[in-house]
Amino acid sequence: MSKQKQLDDIKQKILDDDPTPELKEGATQLVFGVGSPDAEIVFIGEAPGKNEDLKGEPFVGAAGKFLDEMLEMIGLKRADIYITNIVKYRPPNNRDPYPDEKEKFMSYLESQIEAIQPKLVVTLGRHSLNCFLPDLSISQCHGQPKRYKGLVYLPLFHPAAALYNGGMRQTLIDDFALIPAILEKIKSS
Ligand code: URA
Repeated sequence: MSKQKQLDDIKQKILDDDPTPELKEGATQLVFGVGSPDAEIVFIGEAPGKNEDLKGEPFVGAAGKFLDEMLEMIGLKRADIYITNIVKYRPPNNRDPYPDEKEKFMSYLESQIEAIQPKLVVTLGRHSLNCFLPDLSISQCHGQPKRYKGLVYLPLFHPAAALYNGGMRQTLIDDFALIPAILEKIKSS
């Protein structure tokens, strides 16, 4: 089965299973993920915000614009990568997703990663990092690739948190610049 068909099936399964009826009720639509099913890098954010909810696409607001700029900096476009979130419906008023909401979407997220089989998973922010590696602290391990269950994860700060914080913004840009070398190392090992 093609990767695209596998992704389509996962999306349909979320619609059929309806894992978080309350979130769905308050949202405009499901924000599943976007990009290439053949991507070598998968980026994982937290949950859709207002713009994402309206457009049905992850990271299309201010944080997404910053993400696009950093991708361009390392010679990548959105079409080269795949972007998704842990939670696929916008939480009301952009509140943080609750632990049980994140748990309810974990199996679908893992299936997305299995379908794409990326070389590198980039987690954006602590929620995304701690879904995979709960004991790690983003402030201590950002920019350091971690091997977990046969995949390499790169924890980065969340672009929304870094956007208006000068120090964090530069740290995120510096960490982002490490991605090509990390990817090359994974591919040559
Ligand atoms: N923040 C996220 O974590 N995800 C989005 O899609 C947008 C903003």
